[in-house]
Amino acid sequence: MTQPLLKVTDVVREYRLPRPSIFSKQEWLRILHGVSIEIAPGESLGIVGESGSGKSTLARAVMGLERPQSGQIMIGGKDIYALDRTSLRDARKGFQAIFQDPYGSLDPRHTVRTIISEPVVSLERGVSAAERNRRVAEVLDAVGLPAASADKYPHEFSGGQRQRVAIARALITRPSLIVADEPVSALDVSIQAQVLNLMMDLQEKFGLSYLFISHDLGVVRAITDRVAVIHLGRFVEQGPTGEVFDNPQDPYTQALVAAVPKPFSGRRKSKRQQN
Ligand SMILES: Nc1ncnc2c1ncn2[C@@H]1O[C@H](COP(=O)(O)OP(=O)(O)OP(=O)(O)O)[C@@H](O)[C@H]1O
Ligand SMILES: [Mg+2]
Repeated sequence: MTQPLLKVTDVVREYRLPRPSIFSKQEWLRILHGVSIEIAPGESLGIVGESGSGKSTLARAVMGLERPQSGQIMIGGKDIYALDRTSLRDARKGFQAIFQDPYGSLDPRHTVRTIISEPVVSLERGVSAAERNRRVAEVLDAVGLPAASADKYPHEFSGGQRQRVAIARALITRPSLIVADEPVSALDVSIQAQVLNLMMDLQEKFGLSYLFISHDLGVVRAITDRVAVIHLGRFVEQGPTGEVFDNPQDPYTQALVAAVPKPFSGRRKSKRQQN
C-alpha cells in the first residue's frame, strides 16, 4: 500500500477558557476529541459537520498553524510539529490552503502578482524575479484568468475570480495537498459549480489531494472520493462519499442527509463515482 499523503492520528485540540479570577483553576474546552483521518496521494477527502463541530480547528492543525495538545499530523511521512524551522518551511511548499472568504484572505493593498508570489517568497530560496513572474503567469493560466490579471488589485475582481486568485496562490509552490475550508460557500450557486469544476480539473492535471471542508453535502458529493462526518469534535462515520450519503449508518449522518432538501439530495455524482 502506498504511504498516505496525510495521516492524522488521535488529534486532541483544546482551547483555554477564560479564567473567572486569577485564583480559579485553568479550565480547557476540548474541541477535537482524538480524531484520525488519512488521505492517499491524489485522493480527496470531505469533512462534513455542522457549525462549531471543529472542522476549521482541524484544518488549522493540519496546516501547522495550531499545535494539537496530543496526537500526530504526518504529511508526506513527516510529523509536521516535530520539524525544525527550515524543514517545516521545505515541507510547507507541499501543502497549501484556500479559505471561504477570498476577499478577506487577499490583501487589498497588493497586486495579484504580489499576492500569488507570496508563498514562493516566504517558502522558497533563490527564485529569480523572472522565474517568479513566469510561475505567476503559469498559475493564472491554470485557473483560467488572463495574464494581465497579475497587475490588478483584488477589488477589481468578482467573488469567483477572487477565489481563482486564491487557488492560483495555493498552486504556485506546486503542492500535493490543498486544504480547502468552505472554499465555495460564499459564492453564488452558478459560480460555485465553476469553481468546483476548476478544482476537479486541477486535481486531475496536477495529481492534487484535497482535504475539502464544507457544510454543503451536495458540494462534498460533487468533489470528494471519501467523506468523514464530524459531530462535536468526533468522527462518527467515514467512507466512500456516495455510500455514506446514500446509506448513512450513524444516526447523526442520517439526520444530516435527511436535512438536505429532497429535490437536491443525491442529484450530483462525482466523475470518479460514475466510472
Ligand atoms: N481560538 C479559539 N478559542 C476558543 N474557542 C475556539 C477557538 N477557535 C474555535 N473555538 C471554538 O471551537 C469550536 C469549533 O470551532 P470551528 O471553527 O472549528 O468549527 P467549524 O466546524 O469550522 O464551524 P463552521 O462550520 O461554523 O465554520 C467552536 O465552539 C468555537 O467556538
Ligand atoms: Mg469553519
